[in-house]
Amino acid sequence: MKRKKNVTLGEFIIENQSSFAYSTGELSKLINAIRLAAKVVNHEVNKAGLVDIIGDVGETNIQGEEQQKLDVFANDKFIQSLKNREIVCGIASEESEEFISINSNDERNQNKYVVLIDPLDGSSNIDVNVSVGTIFSVYRRITPVGTPVTLEDFLQPGKNQVAAGYIVYGTSTMLVYTTGAGVNGFTLNPAIGTFYLSHPDMQFPETGTIYSVNEGHYIHFHQGVKDYIKYCQKEEEDRPYTARYIGSLVSDFHRNMIKGGIYMYPKSSVTEEGKLRLLYECNPMAFLAEQANGLAIGGRSRILDVVPTELHQRIPFFVGSRKMVEKLQEFLDKYH
Ligand code: AHG
Ligand code: MN
Ligand code: MN
Ligand code: MN
Repeated sequence: MKRKKNVTLGEFIIENQSSFAYSTGELSKLINAIRLAAKVVNHEVNKAGLVDIIGDVGETNIQGEEQQKLDVFANDKFIQSLKNREIVCGIASEESEEFISINSNDERNQNKYVVLIDPLDGSSNIDVNVSVGTIFSVYRRITPVGTPVTLEDFLQPGKNQVAAGYIVYGTSTMLVYTTGAGVNGFTLNPAIGTFYLSHPDMQFPETGTIYSVNEGHYIHFHQGVKDYIKYCQKEEEDRPYTARYIGSLVSDFHRNMIKGGIYMYPKSSVTEEGKLRLLYECNPMAFLAEQANGLAIGGRSRILDVVPTELHQRIPFFVGSRKMVEKLQEFLDKYH
């Protein structure tokens, strides 16, 4: 079938609404709210170099990091957009210690979705004009509608996600998401504020030649990871691979999905849990990866099977082209 041209995200959402499981239009509205907030945040990110918005707010978030102004701005915008449209019953954010309940103890509130969000990913890149992102993850609540949301509604394994995606504020701004039927990417035309379907049915190449890891921490990595890095650098077959590390998960993942590659944030002798957050970063990226024919593991096992115990839990994370992740797994398994 010939593909239609100039499909906008708005049209795509409407056309695909009926294919969502349990579709009531609620998930479509939710994606629409994210689309709107993405445009507002995009506008602000784009002028970060112009106005006095860069720099630390001076507060420290739950992760012990200094919050940047845009972190706070993006957090507010996404929360506001989802709240205003009254389409979710709860939100958890990397930037807030506790989850937010939205009229969830009102029996008139029949909203069944909770959203987890990393409002600004790679925020240390803002000051130096390098790509940042937003990551989101959506679950159906476990507890009954009309009762207060509980921690249980947020601490679900990633395989329960009904939607996930990211926005990358790069040379172009793109919104990439899945509702469990493949991954589609939309590029923003900033002149008219419209996202167009530019990357239909995105797939990780089966294998690739890029590896992405903060190699400055090499000395602290466990032996399996060290050996795999040495393997990537060996002159043999299609190796040595190319090293690419932006320091913003969204951007590193996005590049690897298009070109073929592996992203690694391992645990180390100084950070036993790794750095990335299971709920706000790893699960949504893992869902996208699997939907795009890639793989995501947390050391020994599939990320999407991990049952979370804490909202801000961290976990080692390896994601990318299927064959590359499988090869890495072989190295990790040698030391278990
Ligand atoms: P955030 O800006 O949301 O706190 O996330 C930063 C994360 C992730 O985006 C990136 O891949 C990683 O931190 C980089 O960490 P290092 O600087 O330790 O390599
Ligand atoms: Mn942060
Ligand atoms: Mn992040
Ligand atoms: Mn963040």
